[in-house]
Amino acid sequence: MTRILLINGPNLNLLGLREPEVYGHETLADIVSDLRSFAADRDVELSDFQSNSEGALVTAIHDARETVDGIVLNPGAYTHYSIAIRDAISGVALPVVETHLSNIHAREPFRKESVLSPVCVGIVAGFGRHSYFVALDALLRHLGHPPT
Ligand code: DQA
Repeated sequence: MTRILLINGPNLNLLGLREPEVYGHETLADIVSDLRSFAADRDVELSDFQSNSEGALVTAIHDARETVDGIVLNPGAYTHYSIAIRDAISGVALPVVETHLSNIHAREPFRKESVLSPVCVGIVAGFGRHSYFVALDALLRHLGHPPT
């Protein structure tokens, strides 16, 4: 069975409350639950992890090396400056899809740069909650997982 890890970084635990005009009204728990069903329909096991701290995210990426086939990652603000997360992604050599609810290129200039994109297999941004589903679908196709 294909196994995928969903990782969400800082402040994404506040989805639903946090700037809903940018990030939507749904909670992270709602999105994860729907994404888990989407995965199950495709015979994929989805685990998930959220943390506000950089070190915990680095450790989760390390641990994923032994346990999953790929990662859907919304790194939150760490996208824009975490060399530690970038090095963790390079270090584990797992396919990672960088995922954002908002279109980071249509926002403040500091959000346009991602230090993680060069070490990810692809990027999905700007589709709100749908970004996670598009990212998971793309990751499965990348892995050659049979489409349903
Ligand atoms: C985000 C975009 C980041 O710039 C921001 O810091 C976030 C969320 C997104 O999903 O659109 O926390 O990753």
